[in-house]
Amino acid sequence: MNNAPKSPPAPAEAPVALTKATKATPPADPAVPVIAIDGPVGVGKGTLAQALARRLGWHYLESGALYRVLGLLAERRGVALDDAPALAALAGGLELSFTVTEGATAIVRLGGAGDGGGDGTDGADGGGDGADGETAETGEILGDAIRSEQAGRRASQIAPLPAVRAALLAWQRARARPPGLVADGRDMGSVVFPDSACKIFLTADAEARAARRLLQLQEKGFDVNLAQLLRDIKARDERDSKRAASPLRCAGDAYQLDTTGRNAAQVLAAVWLRVERAWPRLQNLHAQPRRPA
Ligand code: C5P
Repeated sequence: MNNAPKSPPAPAEAPVALTKATKATPPADPAVPVIAIDGPVGVGKGTLAQALARRLGWHYLESGALYRVLGLLAERRGVALDDAPALAALAGGLELSFTVTEGATAIVRLGGAGDGGGDGTDGADGGGDGADGETAETGEILGDAIRSEQAGRRASQIAPLPAVRAALLAWQRARARPPGLVADGRDMGSVVFPDSACKIFLTADAEARAARRLLQLQEKGFDVNLAQLLRDIKARDERDSKRAASPLRCAGDAYQLDTTGRNAAQVLAAVWLRVERAWPRLQNLHAQPRRPA
C-alpha cells in the first residue's frame, strides 16, 4: 500500500466544451498516467475509481455520466434516441464539469450553447447571455436526475450510435491531465485510453450487481424492485456487449477481478496491488517518480 504516491487533490476544473470529434481523434496525452476501469453495470467501478482517484490525488472521469446527461437532454428537447446526427450535435455543444462529492456521486454541471436551462427542477443557477436567447452557462447541477434506472436505460440506447461515441471521444481523452486520471466506463481500456498502463476489468454475478444497484438506488430515494432491476441489468448487459461500436469487452492486457462477494475495501486492496505493480509504467518509466519518501 505504500508504494504509490500521495499527491495533492486534483484542482477543480472549469467547464469545457465537448468538441465534435474528427475521424482521427488524437490520443490522450501520453505523458499523463491513466488508470482505466471497465465493467458492466453495478460491478463497483465507480466506487473503486473514486477511491483510487482520492488516494492518488488524480482526476476522475465517470464516462457513463456523459451518456446519461446526453440521454436526459435528448429527452428534454424531444430528440429521438436514435437520431444520431441530432444527438451528436447536442453532444458537440455541451459544456460539462465533474465534481466528486463525499457521497461518491459525480455531480455534472451543465452549460453549453443552446442549452435552455432544462426543466427547472434541478436548481439551475446560471445567467444567460441574453444576446441571442441562448444560455452561455446555465450552471445546472445534474445530480439524481441522471441516476435513475431510466436514465441508465436511455444512456445505453444512445451509446451504440457511432456518431455519439465519436462526439464524446475527444472530450474524454482531454480529461487526461496531470497529475493523472482514473476513468471508468465500458470502453476506457479498449478504445478511449488504449495506451493506459493499468487496465482493470471488473465482473460480478448479475444477481450480486442487482442487489448492489438496489441499495444504491434506494439510498437515493428511487422506488425500485429487485426483479425489475435484474431484468434491466441483463438487458443493458446484452445491449452494451453486443453492440458493434465499442462494445463492453475486457481489453487483452486488463486485470480481471470478480467482485462478487467482495466489499469495496477488498476490491480496492486487490486493485491497489495492480496499481503498485504498474506504477513504473504509469509513471512512464523515465518520468520523475512520485514515490513517497
Ligand atoms: O456506467 P453507467 O451505468 O452510468 O452507464 C450508462 C450507460 O452508458 C451504459 O449502460 C452504457 O450503455 C453507456 N456507456 C458506454 N460507454 C461508456 C460508459 C457508459 O457505452 N464508457
